[in-house]
Amino acid sequence: MNIGIIGNGKMGKRIAEVTEEYQHQPLTLSQSLQATDTLTFEQTPAVIIDFSHPDGLEKILQYSQTHGVPLVIGTTGYTEEQFAQIAEAAQTIPVLYSANFSLGIMVMNRLIKQAAQDLVTWQIELIEKHHSQKKDAPSGTAKRLVETLQSVRDLTPVYQWTDQPREDQQIGVHSLRAGSFPGEHEVIFATKDEVLSVKHEAFSNRIFAEGAVQASIWLTEQSAGLYQLEDLFEPRGGA
Ligand SMILES: NC(=O)c1ccc[n+]([C@@H]2O[C@H](COP(=O)([O-])OP(=O)(O)OC[C@H]3O[C@@H](n4cnc5c(N)ncnc54)[C@H](OP(=O)(O)O)[C@@H]3O)[C@@H](O)[C@H]2O)c1
Repeated sequence: MNIGIIGNGKMGKRIAEVTEEYQHQPLTLSQSLQATDTLTFEQTPAVIIDFSHPDGLEKILQYSQTHGVPLVIGTTGYTEEQFAQIAEAAQTIPVLYSANFSLGIMVMNRLIKQAAQDLVTWQIELIEKHHSQKKDAPSGTAKRLVETLQSVRDLTPVYQWTDQPREDQQIGVHSLRAGSFPGEHEVIFATKDEVLSVKHEAFSNRIFAEGAVQASIWLTEQSAGLYQLEDLFEPRGGA
């Protein structure tokens, strides 16, 4: 099957490699995303995987909807308005969005939800580390982890501490950008006397590429709707 890949950076190149390993055909854009207003591929792909930049969203949605091509989105840094555009497109085509295509992060998300429910009075902090070229902060994954915690606890994210004392319902979100970290996320639960930490480290961006390619193959069998990575493992139908 032809898998269209949008974004020709670190992730786009890795996804092309993994697509070939899965015995599928990677198709890149005829012209770079930044260089054109109307996207074209040599042939219409069976599915598209996008790991590019939020600025390209409109062009990508337009192509996918016009050609009825399912879309896997891994790009991070979207605004609320852009998420609404993605949800609208998902009314006509299958769209799967995930800020993190690693299986380990999917399980981490479940573990921290359980911990936040069980440790109701514990203070929570989140630390994430990425390479220095990463454009958005906090990471899309960090935002997702915070949303998960907020789904079970009344928590207010704080991105910069001041000299005011910490309140229990606050959650500090700390972003480090240096070197070549592919991605590290740690959620810390703490009291005065003990600490529990749940940490995920990516050693290579290959894990995200594999998850995205697997998701793209799965998405070609789905009807229109907005999906998330968990749906590959716990199908719930289109939203
Ligand atoms: N969901 C996940 O699991 C996951 C994992 C890793 C990374 N990501 C996200 O995936 C995205 C790409 O990461 P990367 O490491 O591959 O980044 P990268 O190496 O900087 O590549 C980004 C690519 O996006 C395109 N691009 C850059 N600026 C653009 C603009 N202003 N308008 C339109 N297109 C633009 C370019 O492709 P062209 O040459 O084709 O224009 C560029 O090669 C980021 O948002 C990153 O956070 C997600």
